[in-house]
Amino acid sequence: MNILRRGRLSAEPDEDIKLFTSSMEADRRLFEADIEVDRAHVVMLREQDIINSSDCAAILSGLEKIKAEGISALDTSYEDVHIALEARLIEIVGEDTGGRMHSARSRNDEVATCIRLALRTELTALMEEVHDLVAALSGTASKHHETVMPGYTHTQHAQPTTLAHHFLAHASALLRDIERVNGAYGRTNLNPLGAAAFASTGFPVDRKRTTELLGFDGTLGNSMDAVSTRDFMIESMSGFSNLMTSLSRMAEELILWSTSEFDLIELDDSYSSTSSIMPQKKNPDIAELMRAKTGTVNGALVSVLTICKALPYSYNRDLQEATPHLWRAADAVRSSVRMARGMVSTMKVKKENMKLSSEKGFMTATELADTIVRKTGIPFRTAHHIVGAVARSGKTPSLPDLDAISLDLIHEKLSARGLSEKDIKEALDPAANISKRAVTGGPAPKETKRQLAAIRKKLGSVAGEIRRIRKKVKAASGKLERDCKHVLQEQA
Ligand code: ARG
Repeated sequence: MNILRRGRLSAEPDEDIKLFTSSMEADRRLFEADIEVDRAHVVMLREQDIINSSDCAAILSGLEKIKAEGISALDTSYEDVHIALEARLIEIVGEDTGGRMHSARSRNDEVATCIRLALRTELTALMEEVHDLVAALSGTASKHHETVMPGYTHTQHAQPTTLAHHFLAHASALLRDIERVNGAYGRTNLNPLGAAAFASTGFPVDRKRTTELLGFDGTLGNSMDAVSTRDFMIESMSGFSNLMTSLSRMAEELILWSTSEFDLIELDDSYSSTSSIMPQKKNPDIAELMRAKTGTVNGALVSVLTICKALPYSYNRDLQEATPHLWRAADAVRSSVRMARGMVSTMKVKKENMKLSSEKGFMTATELADTIVRKTGIPFRTAHHIVGAVARSGKTPSLPDLDAISLDLIHEKLSARGLSEKDIKEALDPAANISKRAVTGGPAPKETKRQLAAIRKKLGSVAGEIRRIRKKVKAASGKLERDCKHVLQEQA
């Protein structure tokens, strides 16, 4: 007999209806969290004299058994893990005891609590994985402060830069992605338990105590808000989307750079696939899937936003439909971060090709115009015009054939005003261009070394924050474990 439906309802839903209604599949992610929540709840119920010690002890040992059996022992004809777990508990310890676990609680506050617990673990692991990716980018950057490569705007050769500068750009974006995930963590790790259906409860529950036992950073202060909101989910997922956007841009570059047209890097074989028909092919499938999973993650975010849009307060079953999107997005983003790290740390950098490519496309034109300004004092717009005309002449200057340049045009007009051939030569040297760009944020090696040190310092604080979070959560679960043991010993 279904412990939930037997009172109010007579007809049983058929299989099709059950399948439509069930959250059992996505609830696999909540099983362990649900047991933690149950334990903290019953420990608090006993302390508040809402249930007695012997019932509390019996429930706790029943929960231990259920945990050991695993989710597969639960009756999947129930609509969700929460009620299936309670049904199994009642089967083990009897209704007179097991039927007391759900006192002063609803599945509405229960599920919100479980999702927050499971999500905080995901967020912490994600922060660590992005930390490791940034460390890998920094490691590669540290070897390439002087590796000259083309910098692009509009995917056209623009100005020379270095691989260190380019990778540290990605690292800087990813550090902000970590900060956003950490911000979402702070608003996720808050306790809804005690809100019950939405109107809280007349039992004298101690919400501070469950907050402490579950390692939450605070208690949600309005019980209707506590069960109604999924903003923590939306915020986390928008953090995922931002992060995936960063990764997709990196993926796109790795794909482009591996083509015969760019030929700047070679991805490791383990991060490549081949063709079933074209024996010569080496394809960047991992990077392509990373790019594609951005769509999966964005879709999941939009799904949750749309599910929550215009939903009247408080709990509605619609909210159940949001949760699987969260897990799908979390899996996609975490695996993509790991793939990115692997690709970055194993790829081969074709330094010589990067250098040769940097000499194409008159990427030093800006520096030539700047040099003209500095040496002759003419306005930048005029210098821009002169150098633009040189570029249009089609004789784009490239080292070492300086003579091919229609520098006559420039010389004719400007030698009298103090521009020497040596000045022009220096302006046209990509490495010299880079070393001149030593302002904060620029690609000059001494400046990218400073950036790298700053990024590594930030990585250190990220690692510290992850340790602090894990320590707090671990301490709480250790304490809960000890409190449960204590109750059991007292009864033994
Ligand atoms: N499976 C439900 C969910 O994920 C749990 C809460 C059910 N509550 C209810 N009143 N039907 O949202």
